[in-house]
Amino acid sequence: MSGGSAANLAVELAGVRFQNPVWVASGTFGYGDDFQTIFDVSRLGAVVTKTLFLGPRDGNPPPRIAEVGGGMLNSIGLANIGWEAFRERKAPWLRQHLPPAQLVVNVAGNTAEEYREVALRVDAARAEVGAAALELNISCPNVNEGGTNIGCDLRLTREVLREVRAVTSLPLLVKLSPNNADLVPFARLAEEEGADGVSLINTLYGMTVDLHSRRPFLGHGSGGLSGPSLLPVGVFWTYKVHQAVRIPIVGIGGIARAEDALQYLMAGARAVQVGTASFLNPFASLEVIDGIARFLDRHRMDLEELIGVAHERRPQNVPAAAAAV
Ligand code: SIN
Repeated sequence: MSGGSAANLAVELAGVRFQNPVWVASGTFGYGDDFQTIFDVSRLGAVVTKTLFLGPRDGNPPPRIAEVGGGMLNSIGLANIGWEAFRERKAPWLRQHLPPAQLVVNVAGNTAEEYREVALRVDAARAEVGAAALELNISCPNVNEGGTNIGCDLRLTREVLREVRAVTSLPLLVKLSPNNADLVPFARLAEEEGADGVSLINTLYGMTVDLHSRRPFLGHGSGGLSGPSLLPVGVFWTYKVHQAVRIPIVGIGGIARAEDALQYLMAGARAVQVGTASFLNPFASLEVIDGIARFLDRHRMDLEELIGVAHERRPQNVPAAAAAV
């Protein structure tokens, strides 16, 4: 329930109960504790951590962020404090203050072995840190290893998934890259290899050129595009992947308002992640929760009735257009 609403927003996904379907996306909410003075993070469906490697990483050279029309570019390069520092310095606060919101630990590595190792460590400490699920980042566009080199290659995606699935029984979500001509084979592969769900989409490759220096503005050259312009892209892939797999979808991309999240839910997502919007409006995720509750009240609907409803009134031309991709 949310702010005076009668709506039940609870949703089950990958065997885990979330009090509502609104999560905050990896890389846009720090490690969860960064927002402690801003609002009560226990109201969220889940916090997804910044991607964690086994050890700390500095990331890419600055500038790492650029505002562009329709959103922003980032090229952070997976800078993070590393798993052990997270476990020691961040997890205790989260353990105390996050429930009933869930903790989803997002991980990556330079190699399949590193993915396996970090997943193994999270699995071993799952009770201590309160990890409800793992989200595997194979789709960062800003690194040479541990990013789109894996998430745009079916063979490497399979290899990483096998390594990780073999060492953890934690619910496993795979975060897919939109920098593929078709996400369906990747979603099918994830399902085949025992993933419990897919999160989609990560950011799209992008670049902005600085007119003064006449060079790419970002220190890394290119970046990943996020923000409002990603909304129709994410909704499209949610709709299409929903037709192709049975595992649940977590919709990401351009969600700033309840109306955006509702599109994802209607297209078939069981949960959504608010990302870039939190930079502009730190309360965006809470507003999305309240807006979904109001919508359900107004239409006297259950959340379950809403999920995937767009497929019941499928326009004639969508399957053909989708099949052409
Ligand atoms: C980054 O750290 O460069 C962004 C993370 C991502 O896109 O997965």
